[in-house]
Amino acid sequence: MSKQKVLLQPIILLIVIKVLLAAATSAQTQLTSPPLPSPPPPGEVEVKPGCQDKCENVSIPYPFGTKKGCYLNEDFLITCNSTHYDPPKPFLPKSYSTEVTNISVDGKLYITLCPAVQCYDESGQLTDGFTSSVNLSSFFISNTDNVHVAVGCDTYSYIFGYKNEQYAYSGGCISYCAGIDYVVNGSCNGFGCCQTSFAQGINCFEVSAMSFKNHTDVYNFNPCSFSFVVQDGKFNFFSNMLGSDYLKKASLPVVLDWSVGSENCTNVVNKKNHPCKGNASCYDVENGSGYRCKCNDGFQGNPYLNGCHDIDECKVPELNTCKQKCINTEGSHTCSCYKGYHGDGRKNGEGCTRTPDRTSVIQIVVGKQAHMY
Ligand SMILES: *[C@@H]1O[C@H](CO)[C@@H](O)[C@H](O)[C@H]1NC(C)=O
Ligand SMILES: *[C@@H]1O[C@H](CO)[C@@H](O)[C@H](O)[C@H]1NC(C)=O
Ligand SMILES: *[C@@H]1O[C@H](CO)[C@@H](O)[C@H](O)[C@H]1NC(C)=O
Ligand SMILES: *[C@@H]1O[C@H](CO)[C@@H](O)[C@H](O)[C@H]1NC(C)=O
Ligand SMILES: *[C@@H]1O[C@H](CO)[C@@H](O)[C@H](O)[C@H]1NC(C)=O
Ligand SMILES: *[C@@H]1O[C@H](CO)[C@@H](O)[C@H](O)[C@H]1NC(C)=O
Ligand SMILES: *[C@@H]1O[C@H](CO)[C@@H](O)[C@H](O)[C@H]1NC(C)=O
Ligand SMILES: *[C@@H]1O[C@H](CO)[C@@H](O)[C@H](O)[C@H]1NC(C)=O
Ligand SMILES: *[C@@H]1O[C@H](CO)[C@@H](O)[C@H](O)[C@H]1NC(C)=O
Repeated sequence: MSKQKVLLQPIILLIVIKVLLAAATSAQTQLTSPPLPSPPPPGEVEVKPGCQDKCENVSIPYPFGTKKGCYLNEDFLITCNSTHYDPPKPFLPKSYSTEVTNISVDGKLYITLCPAVQCYDESGQLTDGFTSSVNLSSFFISNTDNVHVAVGCDTYSYIFGYKNEQYAYSGGCISYCAGIDYVVNGSCNGFGCCQTSFAQGINCFEVSAMSFKNHTDVYNFNPCSFSFVVQDGKFNFFSNMLGSDYLKKASLPVVLDWSVGSENCTNVVNKKNHPCKGNASCYDVENGSGYRCKCNDGFQGNPYLNGCHDIDECKVPELNTCKQKCINTEGSHTCSCYKGYHGDGRKNGEGCTRTPDRTSVIQIVVGKQAHMY
């Protein structure tokens, strides 16, 4: 065998593979497209009959409700205040200032809180001072979703956390800067902005913004200290927050974890009235209290109310893993290939390859080989 031929053989093989792949890909695009945009699943009945399912734009799924008979128990009461707000706004029970912005049935509740503020005048006299606090009876401030932040150039922040009315922890951070030039936008590293994580299992906290020298050294570019708890990733620090009163008026997003009752799954699943409805399972809440219900994989719905029903993955392009044919099954789906193709049919598996037709392969090889010479 000449040296040239030895080299050419892998090249030819490569060309054959490329041609085959090109043929397979073009055939696939033809066969699978166009997938019709699937309509969203029909509106889930997430509330008890006769109950308000929304307060303006915020959905209120069971176990939450706006009146007796609609919620599971008093802990899940949401007041939709239409007397003082137009459009109406939803609030947490017993709290007319903790606004609810979203509720998800998988155990998260989104609220907004105002920051703690201390502002001084030129002579170092306090002009504005508020702390920021929230006292939740049955929900927890998520330690994985929130951080504690302070903003200012002569600033420190204290946070006191309580668990079931018992003092549980305190934390804080210090932020300092001699001039605005040291401040880096988007970076909360101790120059103008500092950040700490939030302790776990806390259902009540109070946060205070404080100052070492009443902002007397930094007054010309930073008269106020701010501190707050905020959803991780939702607060972006900018140097112009130091000189403006933007944060004084801010409503910051905070994430709460909610769960049901105080007993764990072991205790409740044996009861006659199983709390988690069809196609759903009970989960213990780690280091919180009570339990949560969750739809089993491949199912969706409200696991606390009517139970969960199968998701037709074939109708939702993002959910199915099929290259060509998709067959919905209860809780899942299977893939297969069209006639003349082989493979497991899965995008992240073998996919579908055209079953090789020997005569055409040889023709392509011969053709390309001739071209090469
Ligand atoms: C409700 O949603 C609509 C449409 O997305 C929006 O225009 C409106 O501002 C929202 N209302 C409130 C109170 O957020
Ligand atoms: C609505 O909010 C106002 C002001 O915070 C409060 O005084 C009032 O009691 C609330 N009404 C209801 C029905 O919650
Ligand atoms: C509310 O939460 C649901 C479920 O997590 C999410 O799909 C939806 O986009 C959220 N809505 C808003 C307005 O953030
Ligand atoms: C800082 O402000 C507080 C409250 O207004 C005041 O009691 C204190 O004397 C001030 N300290 C300085 C160093 O100006
Ligand atoms: C939170 O509220 C409860 C009941 O409303 C009260 O007994 C408790 O003292 C409050 N906790 C704090 C730290 O303010
Ligand atoms: C930081 O962002 C603010 C507001 O966007 C801008 O005015 C300022 O010039 C930026 N500073 C730097 C150093 O990029
Ligand atoms: C559930 O709670 C009971 C006591 O109420 C306890 O004995 C049991 O260990 C708990 N189970 C789990 C999985 O935490
Ligand atoms: C579980 O889901 C299936 C498929 O959607 C449905 O036919 C069945 O009724 C559900 N089971 C319960 C107990 O809800
Ligand atoms: C829950 O608490 C236990 C005991 O305090 C601790 O060992 C464990 O790490 C905690 N779990 C999480 C997820 O923080």
